[in-house]
Amino acid sequence: MNEEKIIVMDMGNLKGDESLERPTLCLGIESSCDETSAAIVDSNRNILSHIIYSQIPEHQKFGGVVPELAARAHILAIDEVIKQTLERAGKTIVDIDVVAATAGPGLIGGVLVGWMAATGIAHATGKPLVAVNHLEGHALVPRLCATVADGTNGSTAVEFPYLLMLASGGHCQILLVRGVGQYELIGQTLDDSAGEAFDKVAKMLGLGYPGGPVVDKRAQGGNPKAFKFPRPLCDKPGCDFSFSGIKTAARTFLDKNPAPHSEEFINDFCASFQSSVVDCIINRLGNAMQDQRVINAAPKTLVVAGGVAKNSAIRSAMEKLAADNGMIFAAPPMNLCTDNGAMIAWAGLENYKIGNIVKEPIAPRPRWPLTEL
Ligand code: KG4
Ligand code: ZN
Repeated sequence: MNEEKIIVMDMGNLKGDESLERPTLCLGIESSCDETSAAIVDSNRNILSHIIYSQIPEHQKFGGVVPELAARAHILAIDEVIKQTLERAGKTIVDIDVVAATAGPGLIGGVLVGWMAATGIAHATGKPLVAVNHLEGHALVPRLCATVADGTNGSTAVEFPYLLMLASGGHCQILLVRGVGQYELIGQTLDDSAGEAFDKVAKMLGLGYPGGPVVDKRAQGGNPKAFKFPRPLCDKPGCDFSFSGIKTAARTFLDKNPAPHSEEFINDFCASFQSSVVDCIINRLGNAMQDQRVINAAPKTLVVAGGVAKNSAIRSAMEKLAADNGMIFAAPPMNLCTDNGAMIAWAGLENYKIGNIVKEPIAPRPRWPLTEL
């Protein structure tokens, strides 16, 4: 592996709760898409080390993740990533109490690599093993570390139940999170995910992969009212999403107005597209807050998670929505939004605490809805 490509995430001075007892240490491994990542997290919310090897440069020339290449890259990277994670925490495998890895959903070739590594370590050392649902990693990471409206680490504010907007490259769901393993689906996309819409529109504009970060950046310099994009389903009741219409509108408009485009055009296009996504999210979340199941559960916190949670416009619109409805808004710090090992280690700890460890061999799953936990 080209070691220059290993990006060591600097977690700054993230420090969790103090405790007199020795905290439980979890090694978490993530390999479900295009990041090979591992982290050591303790039960006092400290991230002792966190390594992410991003494959993005390897997939960029193809305009998206190539599953076979991803699986091979995970195989080449995984041992080094785990070794460096232990070294940077000043630990050996003997010091670890629990091993956790993503067991799905995701690109199965990649999932298998991380899962087999974790299984091997657990068998060789006799340590307990947790099969983490990748979506649960995203869903629970705000309880490890979150920024609340006043800018402080508000992970303790993220108590069950909370209302979650889970938006990543592969998923777009509104969930009522009642506890570890207890997810009630309030709404979901009927077609594309929000992340997919960002990626596809960026591709149409020739902005490269992944699309979310660059569209977000371009949008900051553009006029969100310059172009008219549809707001699918927003005139209908319910909490489901549809993003394919927004994508088609973008395609149709660009076919009529082909490249080359001015910088101003691209910025305005990104801002207008993004504002339609934001409006859809806010409209659907507004409906979710009126859903009887949500009213009965009375969640205090509105949370955003998944790669799309990095989006500045989505974060600020959700923060306002929460404030307007008397709720606290919480989001993971930027580097815990996209795929990472720390969220898997934390979900591993949360599951370990309730005794949810692997007792018999399991098969990793390419599809694994949260509601099946
Ligand atoms: O959670 P994630 O890392 O991977 C999956 O589990 O799918 O999410 C990746 C997605 C990509 O679609 C990427 O374009 C999107 O998150 N993303 C963003 C931003 N940063 C990443 N979307 C909108 N705005 C961003 N700033
Ligand atoms: Zn993800």
